[in-house]
Amino acid sequence: MISIRHISKQFPSVTALDDVSLEIGEKEFFGLLGPNGAGKTTLMNLLVGYLSPEKGSITIGDQEVTRENLDIRNTIGFVPQSLALYDELSARANLEMFGKLFNLPHKLLSERINERLNAVGLYERRNDNVKTFSGGMKRRLNIIASLLHDPGVLLCDEPTVGVDPQSRNAIFDFLESLNAQGKTIIYTTHYMEEAERLCSRIAIIDHGKIIASGTSDELIDMLPYEETIIVAKNDSTMEHKAVLREFGTVIENDDHLLLKPGTGFALSKFFTRVEQEGMKYRWFELHRPTLEELFLHLTGRRLRD
Ligand SMILES: Nc1ncnc2c1ncn2[C@@H]1O[C@H](COP(=O)(O)OP(=O)(O)OP(=O)(O)O)[C@@H](O)[C@H]1O
Ligand SMILES: [Mg+2]
Repeated sequence: MISIRHISKQFPSVTALDDVSLEIGEKEFFGLLGPNGAGKTTLMNLLVGYLSPEKGSITIGDQEVTRENLDIRNTIGFVPQSLALYDELSARANLEMFGKLFNLPHKLLSERINERLNAVGLYERRNDNVKTFSGGMKRRLNIIASLLHDPGVLLCDEPTVGVDPQSRNAIFDFLESLNAQGKTIIYTTHYMEEAERLCSRIAIIDHGKIIASGTSDELIDMLPYEETIIVAKNDSTMEHKAVLREFGTVIENDDHLLLKPGTGFALSKFFTRVEQEGMKYRWFELHRPTLEELFLHLTGRRLRD
């Protein structure tokens, strides 16, 4: 449904996107995961036609996205990374203003505003000025402001920045319900937990390049190990570190040892050997690898600095 083909975007001092291609299906919840400066916002701006690429093309449905193609903007909702709200106006007045940009008839707009305010738990606060809102409330309002024209595609650029966990969950639930109603969502984030929770497919972007894409499971399968084993550090586990090394690579952290098992690893053999050696451990923890580890593996850096 959304085809991004060989897109490159150059700013005077940096290549923000370098030959990016992605296919995003209808009704997909697609995640774009990458660190600061990876090119996420640039790609969003290209998707709505605010920016033009030097190379490549983007189509949504059967229409090509260009700066001149204003029609296509009626089919897209864009939740910008920086809040686009008027602090001195009430929530309702903000929404009325955005709704008017789309020429919605008064009655329909009024109904939609009430419905969307209800959906994100802001109806009771509709007449309060936005400057009295918490960060999470502003974010929720920012999201529904992009939905008044009922677009089929929703682009969310880091919509949970500065939001407490409770508000964050309310945003997730709302976006999931939109997706269940059939909206295609593209969601950028540098929180791998968000991408894992929400997205059916994820592309990892770094320095303007897509470095991996797939479902969360497919991505994690790209790592050369399936799980890591965390062992609390104590005199005995430190003394028997060599036993752990028989099973793979051991990394020493402040309070624990981390074993990345080598090929042919079997838990039963591992525990038998540990018992045989008389290693006195307080606990072991089996840890499934995360997208953060994949990012570290592919780039040598962390998603967040
Ligand atoms: N208008 C612009 N002019 C010049 N450089 C820009 C412009 N917009 C973005 N850049 C540069 O392009 C690169 C990608 O920026 P972009 O905002 O797309 O990253 P991002 O992944 O959204 O990062 P963040 O997580 O910090 O929002 C960065 O090096 C940035 O400095
Ligand atoms: Mg950004």
